[in-house]
Amino acid sequence: MDKGDNFEVKDLGLAEDGRKRIEWAETQMPILLKIRERFEKEKPLQGYTIGMALHITKETAVLVRTLIAGGAKVAITGCNPLSTQDDVAAALAKEGVNVFGWRGETNDEYYRNINSVLEFEPDITIDDGCDLVTEIHTKRQKLLEKLICSLEETTTGVIRLNAMERDGELKCPAMNVNDAKTKHLFDNYLGTAQSTLDVIMRTTNILLAGKTIVVSGYGFCGSGLAKKARGMGMIPIVTETDHVKALQAVTDGYQVMPMKEAAKFGDVFVTVTGNKHIIDKKHFGLMKDRAIILNSGHFNTEIDVVGLEEIAKEKKLIDEDVTEYTMENGNRLLLLADGRICNLSASKGEGHPSEVMSLSFANQALSAEFAIKNKGKLENKVYNVPDEIDNQIARLMLGVKGIEIDQLSEEQIKYMSSWKEGT
Ligand SMILES: NC(=O)c1ccc[n+]([C@@H]2O[C@H](COP(=O)([O-])OP(=O)(O)OC[C@H]3O[C@@H](n4cnc5c(N)ncnc54)[C@H](O)[C@@H]3O)[C@@H](O)[C@H]2O)c1
Repeated sequence: MDKGDNFEVKDLGLAEDGRKRIEWAETQMPILLKIRERFEKEKPLQGYTIGMALHITKETAVLVRTLIAGGAKVAITGCNPLSTQDDVAAALAKEGVNVFGWRGETNDEYYRNINSVLEFEPDITIDDGCDLVTEIHTKRQKLLEKLICSLEETTTGVIRLNAMERDGELKCPAMNVNDAKTKHLFDNYLGTAQSTLDVIMRTTNILLAGKTIVVSGYGFCGSGLAKKARGMGMIPIVTETDHVKALQAVTDGYQVMPMKEAAKFGDVFVTVTGNKHIIDKKHFGLMKDRAIILNSGHFNTEIDVVGLEEIAKEKKLIDEDVTEYTMENGNRLLLLADGRICNLSASKGEGHPSEVMSLSFANQALSAEFAIKNKGKLENKVYNVPDEIDNQIARLMLGVKGIEIDQLSEEQIKYMSSWKEGT
């Protein structure tokens, strides 16, 4: 490990590779660069400290550079023990960023790094999964005095924040960045689909066409994944617990059934629910020989890996990303990335395409600016990202693509806001 006063990363020698990859990501994140240009002039974050726990990827590095351009002091760690791209972490350290994280952290190291970020006493936190906020609320409440707002990137983190608000335990304002339209309709729906299929191919190189894929959870991520998988010639089966989502999957043309049935048919299983034990001990023994199992949900709770370890007769590492478990009946199951968020945790996973992340991270940058502008005015509840920010991001993105759209005429605006005019 390479360590300095303000960083701890795996190997500083990887910095040049990381720098090149960050610059490659920048070529595909033009709206974040546009925001950075304005931030450089206006310095809206000057004098404020931002503590981040996000997957340390090349795209996140572009966000870090943008926040620093806006005047912020930034300290960052990862939000998953396996997802840090070590070359990117090294490049950030070389640029003077306060960065603490490496691929393959133990649980203790993970929380030590979370606390290294909290040592900077952030005014704003940016979480992906709510770990900074939880640590502050449970162990470091003094930090709440200074905390202006916490921004949350993903569905699972928002579920945790909403639970805190419901229980009267949320002691700081929070913003639900995940539910911005320009976030979940692109990142969750498109990004998760593409990067999940990509990681299946990179880690196993199987032919997707003709294979049955069981997608658990038909939310924003799962519905996008089922659609893209079908586009690759796969045969999707959906499992759900929500009647409306299940009906939607049926009418989108998929087979829907409980996991105990689907378990028998799948060649590939992907969990993406935000819930726990979707695939558990009841199911492993029903699966076909060489079934591939992976998780794209946030936490490693979706597949009961502990249960799998208990009932497997034998365990063999195929490579860094693939573990083979032999069941009592002789069937071999292939678990990817230890059941952690596979598109980011597998050593061969690269996460979402940069272009998609530029939408998500434009929301983060503008939400940080919004929170600072509204310092002292926000209550201890979970706020949605204002529509103006969503619209601004979509407008910027269409502008970058050179696409114009129609504008509502005065007559149309009047019609849409009136109730008197009928047939
Ligand atoms: N891999 C990534 O890069 C990535 C990106 C975005 C979000 N996520 C994560 O993916 C997960 C899903 O996010 P989303 O935005 O699709 O959420 P969502 O709320 O839109 O969808 C989740 C779906 O799972 C269903 N579900 C819950 N329990 C289930 C069970 N036992 N069996 C089957 N279905 C069940 C729910 O009914 C819901 O329809 C979250 O953990 C989120 O944080 C991952």
